[in-house]
Amino acid sequence: MARIWCLGSINVDMFYDVPHIPAPGETLAATGHSVGLGGKGANQSVAAAKAGAEVFHIGAIGSNSEWVFKRLESYGVDTSHIAISEDPTGQAIINVAADGENAIVILAGANRTLDEGNLRAALSTADSGDLLLLQNETNLQAKAARIASERGMRVLYSAAPFDAKATRAVLPYIDTLLLNEIEAEQLQKALKQSLFALPAKHIVVTLGANGARWISTRSGDSWDIPGIKVDAVDTTGAGDTFAGYLAAALARYFKPSEAMALAGRAAALKVTKKGTADAIPSLAEVEAFKS
Ligand code: RIB
Repeated sequence: MARIWCLGSINVDMFYDVPHIPAPGETLAATGHSVGLGGKGANQSVAAAKAGAEVFHIGAIGSNSEWVFKRLESYGVDTSHIAISEDPTGQAIINVAADGENAIVILAGANRTLDEGNLRAALSTADSGDLLLLQNETNLQAKAARIASERGMRVLYSAAPFDAKATRAVLPYIDTLLLNEIEAEQLQKALKQSLFALPAKHIVVTLGANGARWISTRSGDSWDIPGIKVDAVDTTGAGDTFAGYLAAALARYFKPSEAMALAGRAAALKVTKKGTADAIPSLAEVEAFKS
């Protein structure tokens, strides 16, 4: 089994249950509040580890967040490449509406202070065929993608939150690009190119409740996995759960159709639970999930 390296954000997620997503200028009373581990990177690391992969997280947190190490380790994520920064740990304020939809505000903090020396030291022990996961909430994505591709690693990049400049910079080095439908439209508009013309070998577009699409750019093939009907209580982190499970399956050299099916089931199950990293289901739960 190949190993997974995730250069990614770590956030303290602060959740507020609200009747609906607040409109501009509106003040709303929350009906519930909780705090948990999150950040797109940490969520992907946790998802991949819960799916049974060997996962190394590369990132940074502030000096008063020792609990983050323990939490990640409790889920099986190696934390030896997480640095302590002078900046505070990243934060996310997450409003979750009654229908499960969300609106998120993030403060990057330590996530944008990642050090190139730490990155190079971590990846110097990675093998050809290992996977590197990247998203858009840190610095150093393009450098990491280039180093990893030079080492023969497989690079999976989630273009989230969408940033055309950041995406353009990593595109030459990645194998698999992950996007949701909105990000896919934003990218095609920004690059004035169809997804099929991009240099990534594979593109995965998550379609929310309608499943997900696999695109092989070289052959021009594309196929969908169907959505799984669930009672959604919180869609936050569903895309990260999909990405982490997909990576774990690809690390075990599953066929794309099997990897996508596993990732789709994990993401659907996540949506039935409130929270982010802490709410990502284990492989046993995903396998037992009757849809
Ligand atoms: O994708 C969900 C994540 O986005 C949350 O955990 C939050 O921290 C933001 O990064």
